[in-house]
Amino acid sequence: MPLTNTQVIDVLKTTFVPGLKKQLLSVGMLREVKVLVGRVEVSVTIPKISEENVKKLKEVLTKRIKDLGADQVEIHIDFKKEQQIKYPIAIGSGKGGVGKSTVSANLAIGLANLGYSVGILDADVHGPNIPIMFGVNDRPYLNEDKQIIPIEKYGVKIMSLGFLLEDQSTPVIWRGPLVTKAIEQLYNDVAWGKLDYLLIDLPPGTGDAALTVTQSLPLKFGIVVTTPQKVAVADASKSLRMFKEMKIPVLGVIENMSYFICPHCGAKSEIFGHGGGEQMSMENGAPFLGKVPLEMKVREGGDKGVPAAAMEEETETKKVFLQIAKKVAELSSEK
Ligand SMILES: Nc1ncnc2c1ncn2[C@@H]1O[C@H](COP(=O)(O)OP(=O)(O)OP(=O)(O)O)[C@@H](O)[C@H]1O
Ligand SMILES: [Mg+2]
Repeated sequence: MPLTNTQVIDVLKTTFVPGLKKQLLSVGMLREVKVLVGRVEVSVTIPKISEENVKKLKEVLTKRIKDLGADQVEIHIDFKKEQQIKYPIAIGSGKGGVGKSTVSANLAIGLANLGYSVGILDADVHGPNIPIMFGVNDRPYLNEDKQIIPIEKYGVKIMSLGFLLEDQSTPVIWRGPLVTKAIEQLYNDVAWGKLDYLLIDLPPGTGDAALTVTQSLPLKFGIVVTTPQKVAVADASKSLRMFKEMKIPVLGVIENMSYFICPHCGAKSEIFGHGGGEQMSMENGAPFLGKVPLEMKVREGGDKGVPAAAMEEETETKKVFLQIAKKVAELSSEK
């Protein structure tokens, strides 16, 4: 029986990459398989490994494909381009709805307004919100290296699983390994280009997605978002502990919804209490990055696709995010 593509692909699927201890097609990308008479040609792109390991991998593949009946085997291996991202930073919180996505979006725009090159990765694969907050719903294209080209708005490169879904209102129900793979791809297979900052908006809590980001992506820092009240602070501490356990330095704590600004009279009231974020940062020796007010225009902007930091109007929230962005820039370059 003549050899088939499927048989060759099965070999690729079940061969481990020396040095990475992972199966070839779980870490690499198949570019081409050609099965000709008595001859097989394979091209794959994999993460960088040593020359010695490339040699070993080629030997194993050649032998396994010859065992299937091929006389001649040619294996082309090239390496994935390493991302050139200076500061990948994850934004987490223990609790849902405290404003991680709002903070990620506005901080990204704030940093871009300071002149940095910035990207945002929506790692909330179960409920991606970043496309709505930025008001974009385009389908990204692939470049010639088969990398996804991020969508750009307000000076920020944006990537979200939301762009790749047929229908954003359908919930994504995935098990752990799929979540892991999706997040790794959103980082590795996107043409981010040279970035100063990549802000990674985590889903709430410390589940699969948060763990994948902290374990598999080369994070430089974590930022924790909390609201002022005690229960939120207690939950946010879990996220702080997760970063610490993974040996990711915490760049700081941001307190969101710190005080309400009345849209009519401009008066401030601390409806969720006072000082939770500052207390948390003190107790954990993490810098306090700032207090973001609860402002109606922020929520409206989030729903309309214009984050406060991108509005023409000089709201207090816009000012605060610019200050936080400056602090983030200062602290990240010091450490
Ligand atoms: N400072 C703020 N002022 C007004 N509205 C805000 C503020 N921060 C967040 N919101 C609003 O609160 C809601 C929840 O915020 P957001 O989606 O950013 O939270 P999240 O922590 O990312 O939530 P999830 O845990 O679901 O990912 C959104 O409607 C957002 O517009
Ligand atoms: Mg969110």
